[in-house]
Amino acid sequence: MNQEKLTSLKNWFGDYSASFSTPVKEDQRNIDIKRDHTREVCLNTLRIARDLRMNGEDTLLAEAIGLFHDVGRFRQYQTYKTFDDSISVNHATLGASVLLENNALRDLPQQERDLIIHSVTLHNVFSLPEGFDMRTLLFARLVRDADKLDILRVVIEYFGQAAGNRAEAVALGLPDSPGYSPEVLACLARGEMARKSDLTTLNDFKLLQLAWLYDLNFASSLRMVLERQYIDKLAEMLPGTDEIKQAVELVRAYVNGRLRAS
Ligand SMILES: [Fe+2]
Repeated sequence: MNQEKLTSLKNWFGDYSASFSTPVKEDQRNIDIKRDHTREVCLNTLRIARDLRMNGEDTLLAEAIGLFHDVGRFRQYQTYKTFDDSISVNHATLGASVLLENNALRDLPQQERDLIIHSVTLHNVFSLPEGFDMRTLLFARLVRDADKLDILRVVIEYFGQAAGNRAEAVALGLPDSPGYSPEVLACLARGEMARKSDLTTLNDFKLLQLAWLYDLNFASSLRMVLERQYIDKLAEMLPGTDEIKQAVELVRAYVNGRLRAS
């Protein structure tokens, strides 16, 4: 990958995503949020790649994967008006199909095309499967971290906005009721990632974001979590019960512990 090729991929993505523009305000808000998310994920990939001391070509390749990781979101939203894969389509495999159907990677060597397609496809799986080579896994892990970090930002901003201005597809249509699921909280306490299928309320959705921190791969990503105060910001938005406070402190101790060990 070189800068010229990356620029042409960015131009393709800009045109492709702009083709989904719509006069319907609520729909445009959901499209905009994915364009902004893509830009921020690219910045996160760059930061992680630099912290890992990747060479220049691989750093650009990581950015290209960030650029395309959610390319399936646009057609998903246009067709189903949701970002919830469980009631529509797997947006990662859809993204890989979009890239292949449009021949968007035509100017890249086969090895890079494969790496991008695999990383896009793997970016949202619950856990990475066996059978991939170390290089593919490295880039898949990198984009998974970059993505989770920015979803934290999106979710925190979502809850900071007035109800009428929110990009409603972000919260997967969950009810804003005061409770939370014991199963999601138990996952957090066990140091495990929760599953989207366990979510019952918006509080569960916030707890899921915290549980995602257990799945971050790189110290660089954990440092960004602390710099950006994501744990504190999510904690402020959750009910102040003792069990939630305890779970939040467990996550904080986990992040600090991993950083000390790195
Ligand atoms: Fe995604």
